[in-house]
Amino acid sequence: MKFKALTAVAALMVAMPAITLADPDDDTLVLNGETEMVTKAAAPAHMEETGIDTVMSGWHFRNDDTQAMQADDFDNPGMLAVESAIEAWNTVEGEAGKSCASCHGAAEDSMKGIRAVYPKWNETAGELRTLAMQVNDCRTNQMKAEPYKYDSGPMAAMEALISVQSRGMPVNVAIDGPVQAIWEKGKELYYTRTGILELSCASCHEENYGNMIRADHLSQGQINGFPTYRLKNAKLNTVHGRFKGCVRDTRAETYKPGSEEFIALELYVASRGNGLSVEGPSVRN
Ligand code: HEC
Ligand code: HEC
Repeated sequence: MKFKALTAVAALMVAMPAITLADPDDDTLVLNGETEMVTKAAAPAHMEETGIDTVMSGWHFRNDDTQAMQADDFDNPGMLAVESAIEAWNTVEGEAGKSCASCHGAAEDSMKGIRAVYPKWNETAGELRTLAMQVNDCRTNQMKAEPYKYDSGPMAAMEALISVQSRGMPVNVAIDGPVQAIWEKGKELYYTRTGILELSCASCHEENYGNMIRADHLSQGQINGFPTYRLKNAKLNTVHGRFKGCVRDTRAETYKPGSEEFIALELYVASRGNGLSVEGPSVRN
């Protein structure tokens, strides 16, 4: 593992011997005793300039108990949301008199592989769509129903149901062609220092992953595990919800969930995890 800079956070840590460098562990995540997940992978080619050669799931940075919760669906509190989303999937809503199932049949079949390739360019609409945008597009245009609030519980649950159908498959978002300019914008945001602390995503998740920040073990800030059940707030959390929290921690004004900026950032961050298994819903603290 390579650390490009010793920031104030790391310097503080070195000064206090009680806090130690805590490398990500070498445990293996086997889901339900069956599916071995890829939680460390060779970094995608576009990351060459970062000096990071291995990308790692946030799972490696959590303690054994939290890791175990994610390894077994009966212990994973995020799976309760999946149950509620199955109900929503089959419920007729809106003026068109349809449910998701009316058009897509069983999620187990139609949603396989979907999570792994989102955000994805939609040719007809001429836009990059996150999974949340696609779900709401179907709700408003296909069902004539109300959209879910972008980072709400029902949206997180639906994302979890869709994600489960891809667990174990490698994240594989496209970053070229029509989305390249958006990807570049996301990358720029990732490296932009904000707030009175003047920290970028990279300050913590690229230069200091593996280090402790207060009581928290810094990961690479990957999103292959989203939506994520957090023990801290006891609910499923969306990608944009997490981005919002991290930006706030730098004492900066934050963008809104569903904003152009967070959509671009999501594409860029997702692409840093190309090759890792889809894990959602994961469990984190
Ligand atoms: C009336 C039919 C209809 C209903 C109802 C419907 N969808 Fe869709 N859905 C479509 C069509 C058509 C597409 C392909 C649209 C496109 O490519 O622009 C699609 C695409 C999708 C995709 C993207 C698939 C891919 O290959 O990228 C997802 C995810 C999705 N729908 C989820 C849902 C969910 C969740 C619901 C219920 C809340 C729902 N849909 C309800 C017709 C429907
Ligand atoms: C001050 C340090 C700091 C900054 C700056 C920061 N984060 Fe975080 N982030 C954390 C901490 C601490 C956690 C929780 C522990 C972990 O997973 O790293 C976290 C968690 C995450 C996670 C969840 C990872 C997982 O596996 O569940 C994502 C995603 C994330 N951050 C993305 C970002 C993005 C994108 C930015 C820039 C907009 C950012 N962070 C900026 C400290 C930071």
